[in-house]
Amino acid sequence: MSGPNDPAEVAAPELLDAAGREAEKAFAEAADLAELAAVRAAHLGDRSPVLLARRAIGGLPAEVRSAAGRRVNEALATIQAWYEARHAELTRLRDSVALRAEAVDVTLPWDRRPVGARHPLTTVMERMTDVFVAMGYDVAEGPEVETEWHNFDALNFKRDHPARSMMDTFFLEPESAGLVLRTHTSPVQVRAMLERGAPPIYVVCPGKVFRTDELDATHTPVFHQIEGLVVDEGITMAHLKGTLDHLAEVMFGAGLRARWRPSYFPFTEPSAEFDVECFACRGGSVGNPDRPCRTCRSEGWIEWGGCGMVNPRVLTACGIDAERYSGFAFGMGVERAVQFRHGVDDMRDLVEGDVRFTLPFGSEV
Ligand code: DAH
Repeated sequence: MSGPNDPAEVAAPELLDAAGREAEKAFAEAADLAELAAVRAAHLGDRSPVLLARRAIGGLPAEVRSAAGRRVNEALATIQAWYEARHAELTRLRDSVALRAEAVDVTLPWDRRPVGARHPLTTVMERMTDVFVAMGYDVAEGPEVETEWHNFDALNFKRDHPARSMMDTFFLEPESAGLVLRTHTSPVQVRAMLERGAPPIYVVCPGKVFRTDELDATHTPVFHQIEGLVVDEGITMAHLKGTLDHLAEVMFGAGLRARWRPSYFPFTEPSAEFDVECFACRGGSVGNPDRPCRTCRSEGWIEWGGCGMVNPRVLTACGIDAERYSGFAFGMGVERAVQFRHGVDDMRDLVEGDVRFTLPFGSEV
């Protein structure tokens, strides 16, 4: 009868060969280290055929024990060696896959992350402001939520003056608070005069202004202006003219001039609207259908802002002796400057914050 102690059974070469072949096959079929670990116990664990055989050897008759022991040990060593060889192979495979997947190409460009850039409205506004700072002006500021008094009354807009409603004002609730979103930067003139007191006063005020316009290609309810104010002894319109000509030259090119058209503002007398000579065609497109100009629509001039001599009533309202001092003031749109300086046809491009619009301006800081 055969049994566990039957020498023919316990360490029979066929049994050990079969166990070896099965182990070799199982190890070879393991596709990765996890699968190899999962099949290890069946072939090298305590209950694997070869280990069971080794445990049974002690019970064999002395004359066959050592030969059986040698066979079992050889079989075990062989299976162990296959296991280790496959383990080494699968480890190499895992490492090479990981090395490929985690490879870092140190030759790739590392500095192509887009850097932030300031909006062209900001840079153009600062450039305009700098023109005045270079001439010795101070930069003045005022609140965007402004009193009706600063925005209108002190600037000589009468209560029933059509200009008050013409300005498309945002009024704040309650109406009795007398507050508006400032419709222009001119109230900063009033604040500058009240704060500084005695002339000479040379200030420039860049800032946001608000009007109840719908956003479309030519309007935006929030836009920017730059205001200038000079109050000193002996100030004349010639000073104003020279100042605006200088601004036009610095912003748009040497030799370009500003021209004036008579106009009306309650806070200046006389008042004018001013245009800049078209820097693209320099007037060459006027009456010349062969050379049309997109920038000025072949008019030769581009409307830019308003200006005039400060109305003595405004000086008086701000506590300045209008007999002794005179002044000039001007105000212009920053969006307009960016539009014609950079050929931006649609106002919405300036406010929508699409990087496809701002990127071509570069990363000017
Ligand atoms: N505040 C005016 C506006 O928003 C522009 C303006 C005109 C400003 C004449 C001035 C000026 O300082 O003197 O339309």
